[in-house]
Amino acid sequence: MSDRFTLETLRAVMRGRPFHFFQKIGSTQDFAREWALSDPTLPGGNPGDRLAVVIAEEQTAGRGRQGRTWHSPPESSIMFSAILKPSLPPEKLSRVTMAGGVVVAESLFPTLRQAVKLKWPNDILIRGKKAGGVLSEAIWVGDTLCAVVLGIGLNMRIDLNYLNNQVRPSYPVTNVETELGRTMKRLDLLQLILSRLDHWAAHLDTVNLFETWRQRLSTLGQRVTVHTDLGHSSEASYGGVAESVDEFGALFVRLDDGELRRVLAADVSLTEIPEST
Ligand code: BTN
Repeated sequence: MSDRFTLETLRAVMRGRPFHFFQKIGSTQDFAREWALSDPTLPGGNPGDRLAVVIAEEQTAGRGRQGRTWHSPPESSIMFSAILKPSLPPEKLSRVTMAGGVVVAESLFPTLRQAVKLKWPNDILIRGKKAGGVLSEAIWVGDTLCAVVLGIGLNMRIDLNYLNNQVRPSYPVTNVETELGRTMKRLDLLQLILSRLDHWAAHLDTVNLFETWRQRLSTLGQRVTVHTDLGHSSEASYGGVAESVDEFGALFVRLDDGELRRVLAADVSLTEIPEST
């Protein structure tokens, strides 16, 4: 089978899932949001459900966490948004983001083994470099949660010069194929990711998901700098050691003066400081 995304090749991978495919779109997140709002009959993560997916070869307004842009040239990555309808209290919606990181890490495990880790809260790292990321956006209608759109972007074979020169990431970046040292079919990996996502979407509120996520975090035990960009605090950033996480996805950072701070992904960005520095 070819590795091109076409309606035909994707239909084989989607196995009956409701899906839309675009050669080019603004952001799959926006389309998925409108779709979820307009079609209340979409599946959402009950056992046996196959989640609805919006996938694109190219995005002109792709976005990452904290207002960053996310762009990759056609045929060089996997970019999609899945629609979930979790029965979770608002403080546990981070479970959806956890599931996003876990499914990518699990899907790469057979080939890359322990080289794949998650940087809190949900960057996908291979040998310490960022290969992908997860963005989840809740859709509220008044006080009611309509759905959560889970977006995943994974670099497969992007020219790293392009990424470093055009996109100027704040973190070292890599590709799945660069780290693997050979090609890997996007369609095969996508199929694996989606089937793991169907599984975890039906098990969001479980200790198992939390533990699987926690065990894959590279961040724990590391020295980190927490950047608070929202202006709530007089300090723009502070350093400490990432000590633990809780079931709501928050990170506990031990400051040098002994204080333990609980940080939420929505409030901060994080730099891991490699042990050698
Ligand atoms: C991050 O690391 O900041 C998250 C990146 C998420 C990118 C994906 S690509 C598919 C989906 N559509 C978007 O516009 N963003 C997400």
